[in-house]
Amino acid sequence: MAEKKLSGEVYYPSKEVLEYANAKCESLYEFASKDPVAFWESEAKNLYWSKPWTKVLDDSNKPFYKWFVGAETNIAYNCLDVHVKTARRNKLALIWEGENGEFRSFSYFALHRETCRFANVLRSLGVKKGDRVTLYMGRIPELMIGMLACARIGAIHSVVYGGFSVEALHERLEDSQSKVLIVADGSFQRGKIVELKKIADEALQRAATVESVLVVKRTGHQINMEFGRDMWYHELMNLPIANNNECLEMVDAEHPLFLLYTSGTTGKPKAILHTHGGYMVGTYTTLKYVFDIHEEDRYWCAADPGWITGHSYIVYGPLLNGATSFMYEGAPNYPYPHRWWQMIEKYGINILYTAPTAIRGLMRFGDAWPNRYNLASLRLLGSVGEPINPEAWRWYYKVIGKERCPIMDTWWQTETGMFMITPMPCTPLKPGSGTKPFPGIVADVVDENGNPVKPNEEGYLVIKTPWPSMLRTIWNDPDRYVNQYWSKYPGMYMTGDSARKDEDGYFWVIGRVDDVIKVSGYRLGTAEIESALVSHPAVAEAAAIGLPHELKGNAIHCFVLLKTGYEKSDKLVDELKQHVAHEVGPIAKPEHIEIVDSLPKTRSGKIMRRVLKARALGIDPGNLSTLEE
Ligand code: WT7
Repeated sequence: MAEKKLSGEVYYPSKEVLEYANAKCESLYEFASKDPVAFWESEAKNLYWSKPWTKVLDDSNKPFYKWFVGAETNIAYNCLDVHVKTARRNKLALIWEGENGEFRSFSYFALHRETCRFANVLRSLGVKKGDRVTLYMGRIPELMIGMLACARIGAIHSVVYGGFSVEALHERLEDSQSKVLIVADGSFQRGKIVELKKIADEALQRAATVESVLVVKRTGHQINMEFGRDMWYHELMNLPIANNNECLEMVDAEHPLFLLYTSGTTGKPKAILHTHGGYMVGTYTTLKYVFDIHEEDRYWCAADPGWITGHSYIVYGPLLNGATSFMYEGAPNYPYPHRWWQMIEKYGINILYTAPTAIRGLMRFGDAWPNRYNLASLRLLGSVGEPINPEAWRWYYKVIGKERCPIMDTWWQTETGMFMITPMPCTPLKPGSGTKPFPGIVADVVDENGNPVKPNEEGYLVIKTPWPSMLRTIWNDPDRYVNQYWSKYPGMYMTGDSARKDEDGYFWVIGRVDDVIKVSGYRLGTAEIESALVSHPAVAEAAAIGLPHELKGNAIHCFVLLKTGYEKSDKLVDELKQHVAHEVGPIAKPEHIEIVDSLPKTRSGKIMRRVLKARALGIDPGNLSTLEE
């Protein structure tokens, strides 16, 4: 129990939760606040390094921070080889269920073996340290194997979410200059096949750097295999080149591990770069304390490996902790809304980590579906991606967690690599708040000039000190890295979110203050949607904004100006929606498109989305002095 009484609706951890938890709140916060660098160093010592560091943090060239300077390691070695040398070799690393009911599982031994074999295949295809490899698949074990195989040989993986489409994939292939693409023939979603290979074929016509395409058979439907370019994964894995040789390269702690594209304020998606050493320490430590990983746990992060949540908390974090993870391929309500609850009972899941949009989606079907199953194995719940509305929080807490399971509302970003503002099981909770910064993290809410605002006032959320799993740069664009994150307030990392801090020091994230739209927790940029619209022959100009949506959090609304000669019609609006889905992906499909005669612009010609949004919401648009007549 906290000594001080907290204000508002508060849920204190039970005695059982407190006694069982890895993290003892007071001592962790105390240690880390005294000396954050020493805290991270002590955690790093739990992992294997083939060469020790000479310095933990090098901040001589801000904001290009370096962590574990001079050290050598390999994150994949820490994920697999370390466990294979212990009694964990027979422990399940991954339990997988396909949407069609198929089942597979991998012990640490098996996952290590498959990863080594695939790393050998990649090497035999000429993939070298530093080369980029793009992966484009659904939620299947081969995605994990592919990522780890790249990491073993020091290649840089770039996973493109399987819900993205032609242009999004093309852009990412081209920007990363990928040599190899690993793709599945298709994936199952809601009983239908998503034609991943077909989409990739179209994207490859626009991208010239890819030499080889490795195709994982998942759906087994008829696809095109291009002679001399496309090869079956299962065939290569049966050749003598796919031997079990260790196939491992120790790399510098700062060696790039992966690129992950995310939407920013303007222009095309940017490739966030993470490295082996710091990212490993950050994901290992946060998962251990926040989701309180114990040896016997079965942990399920229901995100997609194609997003940062999956990278950090399906692939790397759980394996670094030697945990047993569960992965499910399909939609939560397929074939019926019982699917998730059925699997929790069937596999005895202890920890469930998901997004508010999924909770709201399942809540809508009523309590009878979860109540039909025994959810007693659950011990901890989690939420990520957008603010969780208190109503969904309470439902999750009562109906799923039976008022026993604390909810870890984790605030973080692709850029941060790990949880930043989050409770631990020992933290008293307030529905809708991510509570406090993780030990070692210094966050604040500031005004236009970078000064802290008063309690409960809204301001910009910033991070004031470096952390090990921070992004290192934007691939090929260091200036953009500096401008985007570090230029508004020198020395502070700008998150792009607004927030307030209450009288107890609890953080309440409000939402994005830039041109990023969070749709069902997915991050999309107005620029991507607009450029997809403008690539249609009928469209002269377009503007996209996010408006509140009950289920999705936000939905995309677009305003389109037609070229002369094109007539406004329902058919055209439909065609434009389809066009965006085809180019960017179904997740980016606009909810609503309005054909307009003009768009509000500044005198310099920039579209004022703020004005469109205010009009749509019927609120005051604020300062209009720059608006063109
Ligand atoms: C943005 C980052 C990091 C995992 C998935 C999202 C929003 C994320 C929360 C939360 C309120 C949240 C923020 C952030 N966000 N988690 N618990 N409460 N907002 O990663 O795609 O890089 O998006 O998601 O707006 O800036 P991402």
